[in-house]
Amino acid sequence: MGRLDNKVAIITGGASGIGERMVELFSQEGATVIAADINEAALEKVSEKENVVGMKLNVASDEDWKAFAKEVNDRFGEIDILVNNAGISSEKPYEEIDLDDWQKMLSINGFGPFAGIKHVAPYMAAQHKGSIVNISSYTAQIGQGFNHYSASKGAVRALSKAAATTFGRQGVRVNTLFPGIIETPMTDALSTSKELLGRLIQATPLQRLGKPEDIANAALFLASDESSYITGSELVIDGGFSAQ
Ligand SMILES: NC(=O)c1ccc[n+]([C@@H]2O[C@H](COP(=O)([O-])OP(=O)(O)OC[C@H]3O[C@@H](n4cnc5c(N)ncnc54)[C@H](O)[C@@H]3O)[C@@H](O)[C@H]2O)c1
Repeated sequence: MGRLDNKVAIITGGASGIGERMVELFSQEGATVIAADINEAALEKVSEKENVVGMKLNVASDEDWKAFAKEVNDRFGEIDILVNNAGISSEKPYEEIDLDDWQKMLSINGFGPFAGIKHVAPYMAAQHKGSIVNISSYTAQIGQGFNHYSASKGAVRALSKAAATTFGRQGVRVNTLFPGIIETPMTDALSTSKELLGRLIQATPLQRLGKPEDIANAALFLASDESSYITGSELVIDGGFSAQ
């Protein structure tokens, strides 16, 4: 028996990194998984897996989300799980960030999860059950020089709490994960500098960087009925980095 048997799950950013690992794990645990991503070429590969359907979605578009949520609900009859995982990052210095940079970052990382909840939660509320997992970042909690990226992830943190209180009485749970540095294409650049990599590992109490499955395992718990009394909660997954 799988931990997500008979559930329909949407995972945004499902074509790469953390999202791709979640797609794999959730489908192994019995869910029908919709991997939603803007990268159609990468989606093709992910969609080859059993019980996985790839669908194109730009999370920054209100119209895309509206049509996408309706299509998923019409096609699969219900939506039980939404993981708002799609995102972009940037290490641009503070003084070089302009309004376009800010708007792009906040549209994808902030409006994306907001619009996902806006368009998916009503379907969950209609069936009086649903679990939403938002992927923020440890940079929403401590200053790490990521500037507008941190601000976008702070928005995710705040909107998760707001959504948990807004939709709780309708049976919809909303929780947030805060990954530390996880080895994915987003952090590929780190591996080009052995010295930097060594310093980051040294600075982490558990003495390693995170892996996509570290996040996927926590998302699985929050998506499943095992966490049925948990909403509005926050879980940091960073090897103890931000506890220092
Ligand atoms: N890797 C890390 O160290 C780390 C740390 C903290 C938080 N996170 C967060 O975890 C999430 C996943 O990151 P990852 O490391 O797997 O990155 P990744 O770059 O491997 O994957 C991100 C995915 O999001 C998709 N995406 C980007 N813009 C999109 C859009 N507008 N619409 C739909 N899809 C879009 C990309 O195509 C890609 O498939 C992100 O929200 C990221 O901010 C990552």
